Amino acid sequence: MTNSPRKKPEELRSQQWFGRQDRDGFAYRSWLKGKGIPHDQFDGRPVIGICNTFSELTPCNSHFRTIAEQVKIGVYEAGGFPLEFPVMSLGEVMLRPTAMLYRNLSSMDVEESIRGNPMDGVVLLMGCDKTTPALIMGAASADLPTIGVSGGPMLNGKWRGQELGSGTGVWSMSEQVRAGTLKLAEFLEAESCMHRSHGHCMTMGTASTMASMVEALGLGLPGNAAYPAVDGRRNVLARMAGRRIVEMVHSDQTISQILTREAFENAIKTLAAIGGSTNAVIHLIAMAGRLGVTLTLEDFDRLASDLPCLVNLQPSGDHLMEDFCYAGGLPVVMKEIEHLLHKDLLTASGHTVAENIASAQNHDPRVIKPFSAPFKDKAGIAVLRGNLAPRGAVIKPSAATPALLVHKGRAVVFENIEDFHQRIDDENLDVDETCILVLKNCGPKGYPGMAEVGNMPLPPKILRKGITDMVRISDARMSGTAYGTVVLHTAPEAAAGGALALVENGDTIELDVPKRLLQLHVSDAVLAERRALWKAPEPRLNSGYWKLYIDHVLQADEGCDLDFLRGQRGAFVPRDNH
Ligand code: FES
Repeated sequence: MTNSPRKKPEELRSQQWFGRQDRDGFAYRSWLKGKGIPHDQFDGRPVIGICNTFSELTPCNSHFRTIAEQVKIGVYEAGGFPLEFPVMSLGEVMLRPTAMLYRNLSSMDVEESIRGNPMDGVVLLMGCDKTTPALIMGAASADLPTIGVSGGPMLNGKWRGQELGSGTGVWSMSEQVRAGTLKLAEFLEAESCMHRSHGHCMTMGTASTMASMVEALGLGLPGNAAYPAVDGRRNVLARMAGRRIVEMVHSDQTISQILTREAFENAIKTLAAIGGSTNAVIHLIAMAGRLGVTLTLEDFDRLASDLPCLVNLQPSGDHLMEDFCYAGGLPVVMKEIEHLLHKDLLTASGHTVAENIASAQNHDPRVIKPFSAPFKDKAGIAVLRGNLAPRGAVIKPSAATPALLVHKGRAVVFENIEDFHQRIDDENLDVDETCILVLKNCGPKGYPGMAEVGNMPLPPKILRKGITDMVRISDARMSGTAYGTVVLHTAPEAAAGGALALVENGDTIELDVPKRLLQLHVSDAVLAERRALWKAPEPRLNSGYWKLYIDHVLQADEGCDLDFLRGQRGAFVPRDNH
């Protein structure tokens, strides 16, 4: 690690609160002294904000008080003054209608908390899916020195001798219950065996993907993605991040210096190599948008759709994040693809990407495969276009059934998620396995928040035939722990008047992933007639935050940020408050 020259007190932002010998300086210091802070903490040492998403309603982040304490020790050790603050936490499992509705709201909380408070650098504590992009987006708009610390995955789920991956196991077992091949009592017994420790989902779902992105972007320390939440090394990593952020303040290493276009390119390639979640496409585009870095859907296809997946992890494979850690974790994957990476980028560790991965060793080739003999070929995200998605749709071919990647079928249409739930189990539903299930009005404006409902369950009569996959198309997202031939993020969405809104039962749809095509075989004239009769769905709430969100949310191809939040506003010191 580098040791930069120390900043003089007057160079620190926090001194505009604490360095003053006047009425306001008295107030800023005195109220903090009430909790037992000695006067020397205000003497011009870097003040580090610890942005904590602890919440009992976000079980994946339930250990964040411990992580924060470790960060504080590291900050003190490096001569800084830590102050922890809470921001809106987003629990993927609890929050309705979907945590994604609140990602941007949480990012506003983060940005304004940073700008309005006396801090010189920030440590972001992130775990469950949306807390990672929310905190990075907010911090990026404020642009102080910033380091990310992920909470780490849970221990592997174990049930009756088998590995049970969070999310992935729920989806497959619930399908078995619907098909009559698993008893409800057994299903409920597994509930206590899947999530056995602190931490986020231990499949390569969205949380593990985003923790990997934090490391691949260079915003977190090596090891950030894989150390389990309860592993002592997770606490060490937090403590080291606390030490490092003080150095970053002294060297003025802001988040915008780390999150460059090249860093995002590294992340996109790493995303393919880990077979990561489709949700990362939306989050990376939104994060880049805060920094003024242009990132498009085409970047994902062009840079990484041909890259292989190297990790054999659920939902695409067999193993779980604990195994990934023991195999060597993300540095091993990045070393395998180092010939594709920008290796000279300076990261939050104080070292370059090349230095971070130099000593990485693969300790379990069953879990991490070499680039020369990968787990799956061409595993990146493919971007589809056609009259059904003129602004794009995405599919994760590595999670799909190969035979369905080129498929033409009859549309079976559901107008919204309630319509889907009402009819999907109906034995009289006119559907067979060659059909394409189409779900409307689950996009950013339509749900609202773009729920993870794109991996619709199959009709029971098809499951009973032993068939476990069909082509499904929607403007929704999909849980990173899910799988199947699922076309997601169609843009524009149905509720914004996208062509998805015009699909009717019996229409023919063509999916051709090698040709990147998603086409509705209905003439333009007929589509124009249907459009003339189309009405946008009424939102459930037409005021409050929901209205702000629906009025301003961007479509999936632009990252679903609110239009007025894009860009940086910096961490200027606002006017005095008294
Ligand atoms: Fe929090 Fe999966 S529910 S990471």
